[in-house]
Amino acid sequence: MKPDIQHLDDIKILVDKFYDRIQRDELLGPIFNGIIQNRWPEHLEKMYRFWQTVLLEEHTYYGSPFPPHAKMPINKTHFDHWIGLFSKTVDELYEGEKAEKAKWQGERMASMFQFKIAYYQENNFKPLT
Ligand code: HEM
Ligand code: HEM
Repeated sequence: MKPDIQHLDDIKILVDKFYDRIQRDELLGPIFNGIIQNRWPEHLEKMYRFWQTVLLEEHTYYGSPFPPHAKMPINKTHFDHWIGLFSKTVDELYEGEKAEKAKWQGERMASMFQFKIAYYQENNFKPLT
């Protein structure tokens, strides 16, 4: 039986392991590394706060999740792959209610991003927040 996600430290372990995998991934690695470059420490800090807000209901993330993704060259293939890697990482480390919630929220966010990016691309890059 694995533990569930309970504390900020559990989130840090999850986020570190996920983005380590992302950075070495053939499909997603070049996209993330190309945009983030030497700002990984800052990106990881942001993602700790994002998941802390979503899963532990401790409101430490105050950004807008979507806008940075609006013009990225990504589609269903990328999002399916993102979800696969994220769910696999959650399952390797944790199980329980929060672990399920993490996967569910990841999937919802991915569908929402995908829908908005497709709209954005179809409407000739008119801004959509
Ligand atoms: C994974 C968890 C989350 C999911 C599934 C989610 C889902 C959504 C959905 C469905 C919308 C409406 C999108 C639209 O109108 O096109 C939205 C908008 C938004 N969300 Fe979230 N959200 C999540 C986490 C967060 C967090 C943690 C924050 C910040 C603390 C946040 C900030 C926002 C902002 C700023 C908007 C835009 C509002 C607007 O411009 O209309 N979201 N989100
Ligand atoms: C293939 C899909 C995805 C790609 C390629 C991607 C890529 C990126 C990159 C490169 C950044 C850094 C932007 C910058 O600082 O310049 C970023 C930020 C972020 N991503 Fe993603 N992402 C993807 C999917 C997701 C999903 C599904 C979620 C939510 C569960 C998410 C949540 C976030 C958040 C919260 C930020 C920080 C936004 C901010 O406050 O600045 N991303 N993403």
